[in-house]
Amino acid sequence: MTLEYNPDYPAIDDLRARARRRIPRFAFEYLDGGCNEDVNLHKNTAELREVELKPYYLSEHSGSDLRTELFGHTYDAPFGIAPVGLQGLIWPGSAEILARAAAAHNIPFVLSTVSTASIERVGALTGGKFWFQLYHPADNALRDDLLDRAEAAGCQVLVILSDVPAFGYRPRDIRNGLAMPPKMTLRNVLQIMGKPHWALGTLLHGQPHFANMKKYMPKGLNIKQLGLYMNQTFSGRLHAEKVAAIRDRWKGKLVLKGVASEEDAALAVKLGIDGLIVSNHGGRQLDAGQSAVHALGPIARNFGGQIRIMMDSGVRSGPDVGRALASGAEFVFLGRSFMYGVAALGKAGGHHTIAILKTQLKQLMEQLCCERVGELRRHLIG
Ligand SMILES: Cc1cc2nc3c(=O)[nH]c(=O)nc-3n(C[C@H](O)[C@H](O)[C@H](O)COP(=O)(O)O)c2cc1C
Repeated sequence: MTLEYNPDYPAIDDLRARARRRIPRFAFEYLDGGCNEDVNLHKNTAELREVELKPYYLSEHSGSDLRTELFGHTYDAPFGIAPVGLQGLIWPGSAEILARAAAAHNIPFVLSTVSTASIERVGALTGGKFWFQLYHPADNALRDDLLDRAEAAGCQVLVILSDVPAFGYRPRDIRNGLAMPPKMTLRNVLQIMGKPHWALGTLLHGQPHFANMKKYMPKGLNIKQLGLYMNQTFSGRLHAEKVAAIRDRWKGKLVLKGVASEEDAALAVKLGIDGLIVSNHGGRQLDAGQSAVHALGPIARNFGGQIRIMMDSGVRSGPDVGRALASGAEFVFLGRSFMYGVAALGKAGGHHTIAILKTQLKQLMEQLCCERVGELRRHLIG
């Protein structure tokens, strides 16, 4: 794939600024916000950026290679697209745009249970090259049906989420009526009218809906009933027994996302999980928690080698990807960065965001004199 990108937007911050101008405020705030006072949101990036790397300018160097093996597959870069719910609300068709871009660039795309594109559609668009993130339903029959559908669509890796035992407390979404149950306010309608590209795209693409859940939902729910339905369907905290049942049933690779403690990591190893995503949901759940990079260190030191270690939360550039890899992650995911890209640039946004991240990461590795992604740890200072 060519690495050409639009030179007007060389940084994720440029994409964020354009996204803010192009989409209704309630959609931007849903994407951009953390929870409570946004402490964890800001700490994620700030503490990641405290990581320092050492260059070896006089060493031999025959070029840097971004390719990375994970679960038996060699990806073209050591990063992927994290699962995001209600993607079509942020930009019409964004789940499909990102799934296609990821497949074309040979990086993983993780589809959320509560995204706006169905498992079957993403399976068809990517030729089965996608991962699926399961929100654990309260009902086992529903869980099993989702797992069967993911398997039938060719899903490569199943991701289960541990860090939403309770919905995050997000003041902006509450003010905007996007909390559970949601409501459509006059203010939101006025915001939509001020963003013609978004409004037209939504009109053409159809109203965003929970595409994976459609077949199970009673017909004709109003927006309040829909919120209640989703609340009941996904209520319940993940625990060892639920994880063990999924492990028994899912024969492919299984990843636990939202791990932020060594205790949970140890249990995951015991339960036969294949990989962990050390993550705090991009600072959207536990404002009093540690930054992801601080949680990563001890988990990588104690469990690396026993289980594949990945990380997300706060990553906004190629050097950030490098810092996370140097700190012990084998692979990195980004949520908001890709969504800013699509909200800013529409169909070109997936390709563009991947291209700038790859270019920045390659520059970092050349600068450090690092030939392979797995060797970034040698450059960590401290
Ligand atoms: C708007 C939004 C919706 C999200 N929805 C989900 C989801 O449905 N399932 C999930 O596992 N994680 C979800 N996440 C968390 C992301 O998968 C990921 O952990 C997080 O975005 C990483 O932080 P970053 O945005 O700083 O890269 C969501 C994140 C955002 C920003």
